[in-house]
Amino acid sequence: MDSHFDNKVIWITGASSGIGKALAIDLSKLNCKVYITARSEEKLNEIVTQCAKDNVTALPGDLTDKQTNIKICEEIMKESGHMDIAILNAGTCEYVDIDNFNSDLFERLTKVNFISMVYGIEACLPLLYKSRHAQLIGMSSTAAYLGLPRSEAYGATKAAIRNMFGALRVSLSGKGISTSVICPGFVETELTDQNDFDMPALITAQKASEYILDGISKKKQEIHFPRKFSLTLKLIGSLPNPLLTWILRKTVVRT
Ligand SMILES: NC(=O)c1ccc[n+]([C@@H]2O[C@H](COP(=O)([O-])OP(=O)(O)OC[C@H]3O[C@@H](n4cnc5c(N)ncnc54)[C@H](OP(=O)(O)O)[C@@H]3O)[C@@H](O)[C@H]2O)c1
Repeated sequence: MDSHFDNKVIWITGASSGIGKALAIDLSKLNCKVYITARSEEKLNEIVTQCAKDNVTALPGDLTDKQTNIKICEEIMKESGHMDIAILNAGTCEYVDIDNFNSDLFERLTKVNFISMVYGIEACLPLLYKSRHAQLIGMSSTAAYLGLPRSEAYGATKAAIRNMFGALRVSLSGKGISTSVICPGFVETELTDQNDFDMPALITAQKASEYILDGISKKKQEIHFPRKFSLTLKLIGSLPNPLLTWILRKTVVRT
């Protein structure tokens, strides 16, 4: 698996904490060049100093800004001349309060989770085209598999990403770029620390990184884990709507 990443130039977004940070630290141990992005320059620099080898570069920035994505990719181009793997992972989560339905929340999440990724793809595609082994990876979620109460906004952004990658998989396949979409279940990170409910099948960010790197090395089109949980959600999501609604009302909705 490790040799898959040999001499690769890799960009990871959302690398200052959680899953992105675990990926950055794991990849830094291999023979590859890693660029890491997030808003927090301080956290990124700390990760760079934690890494044993001198192969990680912090390129901080707010990815909701289109020009920032372009500038970061220009930096990578200047230093490395191309990009082999883009792992577009940055994202956030907020839950909808159905009694205070608020479009601002939808706008915020769409901008951070979806539009930022679109900016990232636009900025890195020219660099990926210069690679002979290009891989474009997008972070979705198992929340994309079905509409979950309170997740009307978060789930919608993740479903948009999964749908977009379904199309990109076909459009880019003839152009030498393979794609993967990642759909994790619950992972213990700053993002899920805010959750006030039991999270079934919760795994560590370290374990998530292992699943993801294994999936990337096998060029899996969809990397979903932990499998028992992700397959169960997929199955529930395919149930007829009346049955699905009944199950979710019984198990998820609090009155
Ligand atoms: N944890 C889970 O259970 C779970 C499950 C399914 C999918 N995911 C997805 O996995 C990804 C990583 O989440 P995580 O759980 O590792 O959460 P996290 O620890 O909160 O990490 C989120 C990362 O995104 C960065 N980020 C947020 N807004 C940004 C912006 N505007 N510009 C640049 N970077 C930004 C954050 O850095 P700064 O704050 O420094 O910018 C941070 O590095 C997200 O897309 C999330 O939706 C997580």
